Amino acid sequence: MTAPRPPRTPVRAPDHSAAAPLPVPTSPDHEVVALYGPDFAADPYSVYDRLREYGPLAPVEIAPGIGAMLVTDYRAALELLHDPETWSKDSRAWQATVPPDSPVLPMMGWRPNALVNDGEAHRRYRQVITESFSLIAPHELREHTRQVAEELISRFSSRGEADLMAEYASKVPVLVFNRLFGLPDSYSDRLVTALCGMLDATTPEEAVAANEAFSAYIGELIEAKREKRGADLASWFMDHPAGLSPDELASEIVVTMAAGHNPTTHLIGNALARMLSDDRYYSTLSSGGLTPRDALHDVLRNDSPMSNLSPHFPTRDIFFHGTWLRAGQLVLVSYAAASTQHGRTAPGESAAAGGSGGGAHLAWAAGPHACPVQNPALLIATTAIERLTAWLSDIQLTVPHDELVWRHGPFHRGLVELPAGFTPITPDQAGVTPWSSPSSSTPRDATSTARRSASASWGPRPG
Ligand code: HEM
Repeated sequence: MTAPRPPRTPVRAPDHSAAAPLPVPTSPDHEVVALYGPDFAADPYSVYDRLREYGPLAPVEIAPGIGAMLVTDYRAALELLHDPETWSKDSRAWQATVPPDSPVLPMMGWRPNALVNDGEAHRRYRQVITESFSLIAPHELREHTRQVAEELISRFSSRGEADLMAEYASKVPVLVFNRLFGLPDSYSDRLVTALCGMLDATTPEEAVAANEAFSAYIGELIEAKREKRGADLASWFMDHPAGLSPDELASEIVVTMAAGHNPTTHLIGNALARMLSDDRYYSTLSSGGLTPRDALHDVLRNDSPMSNLSPHFPTRDIFFHGTWLRAGQLVLVSYAAASTQHGRTAPGESAAAGGSGGGAHLAWAAGPHACPVQNPALLIATTAIERLTAWLSDIQLTVPHDELVWRHGPFHRGLVELPAGFTPITPDQAGVTPWSSPSSSTPRDATSTARRSASASWGPRPG
């Protein structure tokens, strides 16, 4: 892919009828940068560097033939996210210009939920989510996550190796959601099939099958809760004074699970990838230094799990930070580019030595549509990482960090696999803590030097 040069004049949105698909606004000598495919996935940050040459906004393609303007500048992004008068989230008019089977519609198509509505409708939908989550006590959420985490760890702990994406990071949020929404663990496999299937689908057929599995699960969840309410999110959504219609209820449950699963999976995965390839975190596992919380902040700032989203549509023609935009045109915010505008700390680099990875970021977005579930998401991720590193105290990657493979696609920054090795431990008896299990033979005070020499001998182990 050749680097685009910055345009000499501001990019001007072409004048087309509102019903026609919006072409990507670019001049003939400029290549449109694709935010999908292997090149972008392998090194999105150098793509953002090139896009910044256009100024605060740049033309991109998010799927073949689907153009958008991408905000890469932090101040422009903040201004947009805090100005609901000028910027609408309602995607209906734009959606009418896009093929109905477009792969971006599941993320951006209109539904009666918090994500794609404005004003009073948005406030009503959002309140259902924030007020229901506020009824979950943090210690209960931590305990659910601990149980789920330890159950997952026990499935691979005796093997000495695991793919931490497929076997851990992608499953923790699903199993926790299944409990929070009020279904017994016996249902969790179905939700795993549906949500992980949507994440992993490589063909339209697989995506359709995963979607159908998800709809069937949601249908059964609603049916079960209609018959018998409980102290759970589904029941609280149903009984909320907003009085959601059946369609709205289903859509709100779907958006909460779907908006939560992918980024939480990648928050855990990206943080583990950083921790397990950085000696400063390894010493933490036994003796202090950087903590899982530091790794999470590092990821939020430098490897935002949701990299580009926030579809917005100008409510009128505007000149915004040097670019003419037409009313109704698709504009996305690059949380990843805006957060790393003034530099990025790559895994293992020293900015994190200060503790937090430093600096403001937009990983949760900002303004009225900012993620409403930040603290619960952080608690789930922190607990998941703490349990894994407590049980498998010498865990480390079996491939170097720079050989990890990243998922394709414009919206998320996440790993395909996270292969790790560790000293096998025998699954525990009920009630036995990790400290009294055979894992206590694992050297807990291993030094960075010891770890480095150990890493030379790590390789795939027999199952
Ligand atoms: C328990 C896990 C989570 C749940 C249930 C959840 C739920 C939601 C919901 C319902 C929204 C829509 C809010 C609105 O439009 O008013 C949202 C937005 C958002 N969330 Fe979360 N979220 C979770 C975790 C995360 C994580 C881990 C990240 C990334 C670090 C994240 C980043 C975002 C962003 C960037 C938005 C704005 C998206 C947009 O407007 O396009 N979320 N989240």
